[in-house]
Amino acid sequence: MKNLIVAVFLFLFHAVLFAQQNQISIDADQSLGKINPLVYGQFIEYIGRCIDGGIYEENSPLSDHRGFRKDVLTKAKELHPTTLRFPGGTVVKTFHWEDGVGPKEQRKAKKNLIWGGIDSYQFGTCEFIEYCKELQAEPCLVVNLSTGTAEEAANWVEYCNGTGNTYYANLRRAHGYAEPFQVKYWALGNEEGAEPDAGRHQDPNDYVKDVWHFIKLMKLTDPSIKLIANGEAMNEHWNKTVLDGIGNAVDYLSYHYYVNTSPNKPYSIFEKIATAESEIEHLGRFIRKNYSDTVQQWSEWYRFPHREGPIKLSFDEWGIWEKQDPPYGTTNQYTWRHALATASFLQVIQRQAQTIGIANWAQMVNVLAPIMTDKEGSVKQTIFYPLQAYRKYALGEALAAESQAPILTDGIAALDLSATIDRERKMLTLFVVNRSSQEIQAPLLLKNATLKSITSKICYSSSSLEATNTLAAKDTEVVRISEDKHIQQKKPLQFAKESITIYNFTLQ
Ligand code: AHR
Repeated sequence: MKNLIVAVFLFLFHAVLFAQQNQISIDADQSLGKINPLVYGQFIEYIGRCIDGGIYEENSPLSDHRGFRKDVLTKAKELHPTTLRFPGGTVVKTFHWEDGVGPKEQRKAKKNLIWGGIDSYQFGTCEFIEYCKELQAEPCLVVNLSTGTAEEAANWVEYCNGTGNTYYANLRRAHGYAEPFQVKYWALGNEEGAEPDAGRHQDPNDYVKDVWHFIKLMKLTDPSIKLIANGEAMNEHWNKTVLDGIGNAVDYLSYHYYVNTSPNKPYSIFEKIATAESEIEHLGRFIRKNYSDTVQQWSEWYRFPHREGPIKLSFDEWGIWEKQDPPYGTTNQYTWRHALATASFLQVIQRQAQTIGIANWAQMVNVLAPIMTDKEGSVKQTIFYPLQAYRKYALGEALAAESQAPILTDGIAALDLSATIDRERKMLTLFVVNRSSQEIQAPLLLKNATLKSITSKICYSSSSLEATNTLAAKDTEVVRISEDKHIQQKKPLQFAKESITIYNFTLQ
């Protein structure tokens, strides 16, 4: 009994202490930069059952006349990615776009040399563009730098964007698409520096030399396209060599980062996300210091325009890869803890708005994915909800926000936050991930702006950090969503244990 009294006393003491010390502060004058809408993207690749058996399944009662799985399409629309990247990923090193266009019976089903299995190529360029249109997502195509040629890449640009009486524009027309696809974003290979892969550019100087030829032919074909050069996380030598070599011609440097949980260290995933943030911040500073927003030297004889504006990161693969089931551990069952980690990672992307111009969660269906399928149907994984929510509620500009809150372990604060503002519409949104096992209350200190009202508070939570939605129990939903539109402004903000909370405010 005595122990119980002491425990209750300690609990109350801590609760009062926390309530007294906690604080959220947002400074409306401290902008972290405009958030590009393209940072809320997804990625699809010919790997495992992402495309064949996921997005696309001919002759399934669940598919439409095009072979698109209707249940998946409905969920993908709810997810609402602002951009979609295709066809890889590592597989791009063996992907030839002409194998995936034209009459379906003539397409070349091919062994997937990278991930195993056979790819049907029934979902090719035109199907991808149709899918993007359905989702209202900006398409991003990745060209084959390894076994493809510069001419092949330029022909792909012409097939997609050509408007004249040319062979490749006419080929697209002959395939049933009179209007150009206007694909603006093109990535120059994928992880070309990765030594174990089937690529051939492990030395960044080789990449620069080769890619310059690709850039010339692609840009001469359509000078309006935006290009994404290959970057490498934590490899300053690679990034510097690439940007010194072709930084005047490309708009983005790609960046890939996956996190996971170390054995018996459940909070390690949050530490890894924090490390990712400091590396992104470092790379952003490096780019801003060394590569001016305005290109100084350019020969008119290139006959196409140089880059306009600053070089940004295309964080074109980010996500959680726990190395679970095949292929190569990419079939992942995500728990509620992973959803909290996803929200924290999204907050990094919002906070690093000055550096990141494009970002895609890798991937979308079945592989490291928010949507899982089997022959009978599909299910949303826990990570689906933060991915959906941040793109829905984020406003156009990131603001500096800080919390005074308990520290959990190894420097990981209980609360992780991000704030966004729409100055014209006088709206402010606060995103908070409470990673602790206790509810936390904190008053809001808003600097350089005055609150008018709290429009709503949306809270995502679950019964346990290990809760997970499964294909075996499709009707059992483990994620709880509550929305409250009647919050008293005078009370401290409240964050349920292990939750994601979004406060929507209006300003005076
Ligand atoms: O998303 C899975 C793989 O991870 C991609 O193919 C590759 O680019 C990355 O290494």
